[in-house]
Amino acid sequence: MNRILQAIVFNLRYEAEDIVGIELRPLDDGAFPGFDAGAHIDLNLPNGMMRSYSLLNAPGETHRYVVAVLKDKTSRGGSRWVHEQLRIGMRLTISAPRNNFPLHEDSGHSVLVAGGIGVTPILCMGRRLQQLGKSFEVLYFARSRKSAAFVADIESLGAPVTWHFDAEKGGPPDLKSLLVACGGKPNTHFYACGPSVMLNNFVTTCESLDYANAHIERFSAVEVAASAGAKKSYTVELKKSGKLITVTPEKSLLQTLIDAKVVVDYSCQEGICGACETRVLEGEPDHRDSVLSASEHASNKVMMICVSGCKSDRLVVDL
Ligand code: FES
Repeated sequence: MNRILQAIVFNLRYEAEDIVGIELRPLDDGAFPGFDAGAHIDLNLPNGMMRSYSLLNAPGETHRYVVAVLKDKTSRGGSRWVHEQLRIGMRLTISAPRNNFPLHEDSGHSVLVAGGIGVTPILCMGRRLQQLGKSFEVLYFARSRKSAAFVADIESLGAPVTWHFDAEKGGPPDLKSLLVACGGKPNTHFYACGPSVMLNNFVTTCESLDYANAHIERFSAVEVAASAGAKKSYTVELKKSGKLITVTPEKSLLQTLIDAKVVVDYSCQEGICGACETRVLEGEPDHRDSVLSASEHASNKVMMICVSGCKSDRLVVDL
């Protein structure tokens, strides 16, 4: 199970228009678990909501976690609560870091693409690549200069940066041209975090350019409909306990397990945080998450049980 940690809000900082930085320290003067670049934590807010945010401080720092939160105009209460209610000195329950967006530290060159608040994991990756002395460059897109957070931190990484502010250029960047210009070096890995439109464009463009090493992190779930072959009802065998569970159309596999008092790890329940990842031993899942890569989906070795279904009559999982 993912560890729960107690933290105190040590500092709040204005980072850009509608973006606040939050520095969390361990409540008991100890140390937080270490983390790798690309990791995120969940904040359990006192209003009952849980939100995931990427860590932006340098991997190796265990005396603090730093995240940044954009005030989302369509907020369902998470980011608005953070902006309006969170105060220095408050205690928060947080999760230990999880990482669905790992950095390939042995790559020859890395291209880090940030869109808006998506700069947070990108900054963390840049700090790590700088620590390692590796070759990398950054593409940073934002609506305007005043809405761009951590500009000075990105500049201090010492890597080439391509800036694009829509307000100054009259529209979004030509991502394809920029990615073409970044290609050509052996063993290059491409990473992107930002709004869904940008990420969809990034994925399509990397595919069209045959860039095999393209990685993304989404911070909002993509609605994926059940596939044509998905079963309405199916049986799940829990390998460790031998229990048989029947999943029906009214409930997700996760909810069915919770109701059956099976102890499972979960957080977002939207297929974006990775907390409910479960090993599949037999059967064919119907993947509907935004965490796993296309090759991970194709391998059918793991699934996100909060949103995914099943294409076979029976599934055997490592629970
Ligand atoms: S609970 Fe977050 S991906 Fe399933």
